[in-house]
Amino acid sequence: MTSILEQLKDSVSNALIAAFGAEMADKDPLVASTSNPKFGDYQSNVALSLAKPLKQNPRAIAQLIIDHLQIEDMCETPTIAGPGFINFMLKSDYVGNLLQEIQPDERLGIAQVESADKVIVDFSSPNIAKEMHVGHLRSTIIGDAIARILEFRGYDVLRLNHVGDWGTQFGMLIAYLREAYPKALTTADALDIGDLVSLYKKAKVRFDEDEEFKQTARQEVVNLQAGAEDSLHAWKLLCDQSRREFQVIYDLLDIKLDERGESFYNPFLGDIVSELKETGLLEKSEGAMCVFLDGFTNKDGDPLPLIVQKSDGGFNYATTDLAAIKYRVKEDKATRIIYVTDSGQANHFAGVFQVARKAGILPEDVEVVHVPFGLVQGKDGKRLKTRSGATVKLKDLLDEAVIHARNDLETRFKDYGREETPEFIDRAAQVIGLSAVKYADLSQNRTSDYVFDFQKMLDLKGNTAPYLLYAYVRPQGVSRKGDINFSQLDSNTKILLTENTELALGKSILQLEEVIKEVESTLLPNRICLYLFELSQKFNQFYEQCDILNAEEPQKTSRLILADLTARTIKLGLSLLGIEVLERM
Ligand code: ARG
Repeated sequence: MTSILEQLKDSVSNALIAAFGAEMADKDPLVASTSNPKFGDYQSNVALSLAKPLKQNPRAIAQLIIDHLQIEDMCETPTIAGPGFINFMLKSDYVGNLLQEIQPDERLGIAQVESADKVIVDFSSPNIAKEMHVGHLRSTIIGDAIARILEFRGYDVLRLNHVGDWGTQFGMLIAYLREAYPKALTTADALDIGDLVSLYKKAKVRFDEDEEFKQTARQEVVNLQAGAEDSLHAWKLLCDQSRREFQVIYDLLDIKLDERGESFYNPFLGDIVSELKETGLLEKSEGAMCVFLDGFTNKDGDPLPLIVQKSDGGFNYATTDLAAIKYRVKEDKATRIIYVTDSGQANHFAGVFQVARKAGILPEDVEVVHVPFGLVQGKDGKRLKTRSGATVKLKDLLDEAVIHARNDLETRFKDYGREETPEFIDRAAQVIGLSAVKYADLSQNRTSDYVFDFQKMLDLKGNTAPYLLYAYVRPQGVSRKGDINFSQLDSNTKILLTENTELALGKSILQLEEVIKEVESTLLPNRICLYLFELSQKFNQFYEQCDILNAEEPQKTSRLILADLTARTIKLGLSLLGIEVLERM
């Protein structure tokens, strides 16, 4: 379906051409949905923007546009407000017809892109032998939502887990394990990730203190990079161990990822450096090979370098990312590459993108975007940690969310004297707890820091997962109570939007498409959350004001269809965020 917004934009564009000539063809019609129903459903500011170039009064321009508009079937006659805004109010018949049209469609009329371009979403990407931390949790949740949205739109999405599985830290770790815990290098499952993390820390201490150990560790890296059998074997064991731990989290959160870690690009790193040399971008500075960046300077105003090869010959995080871009462009044929990491890596990516463009590794027509996000904080506004001050383990955090959800459910059921089976409670607690964590993260503008607060995220009121899940459950309750099969409602029924709450709800249902398209370019999933929240509020107003089951036909079926469409819209919207629904709660 062409969204209402797109149809309006087209109509205004046509009116501009009809009123002012063909040179208006490229003019943005500046139509947007309004947040205040006082201004109608949509508004255009185009008349204001034309006042200067056309040397005319904006209200007069607005009137001319309206005179040339052909939208009688969509809108009431547009009105002019203030200095020259054009306000559009959708006709209820038009809204009703569109709802009827999308009712039989599983995708609710939401269009797919014409060509399934390849898009890479690089997300989650924890580091081997280190604990997956809350930053990786954010990347996982946000990256997965972005991937789901783009998949739904029909892109060919490759979900890549760029795990940190290569580099000097492995030399250090293997060298340390050789002396302290040799079994770990030959036997699977000799260690769990907790052990690995603490051994890693000890190895780091040795590395910083002991010159001889440092040499041994360096030699280990050389062995590993040269493909020495026993070093590779040890490295693989360490990776497997971490991978199993990460997988627990991915399974819990229903995250699908293809692992292509840093090690994958190892064979290409040397070529990247040679390529940079050929383009003349490479410079030697203090023994390191680097490219000096435009627009990035240190305190003294000197240009900052992107180091691609250290003085000891080792390659960097940035070198790997350059090799990854090359591979993703040439082999994967990506047209858009999206990186989801904390904002702390913004400069890293800006530098890498700049060098990749200059070196011709990244062609003009391939878009690269860093999708940054803020920190996760505790209620005290500081970095999230456990009561004892230790870093929070992700598994514990998710388990705790489920426990909180279970407590809430049990209290509520007890208050209402509801008897539910343990299986029902288990599953409901699991869905609510995990959704709450995902939704709390996604509903914030990702660029800001966010406060992790179980109580708030599980609140039944407010912009939370439980509120939305509940709005989904209500129509299901209607269907059970009235013994109605939503999938068998007569799709020839005209949708009647006589009450204000019906019309407002109907309009809201039709907006999902424009919201999805917006997120496709802004990559801000919180927009979908806000939309679903508003839709749920409108549904609740409708539900309180309009009797569904006791209404006379044809109003009854019309209202049932509205309730079903709302539920399906919520379910679809939540599925794009990686959130499941419950039929009862
Ligand atoms: N492993 C990195 C980290 O934990 C994130 C990797 C992001 N992706 C990339 N292509 N650099 O910070």
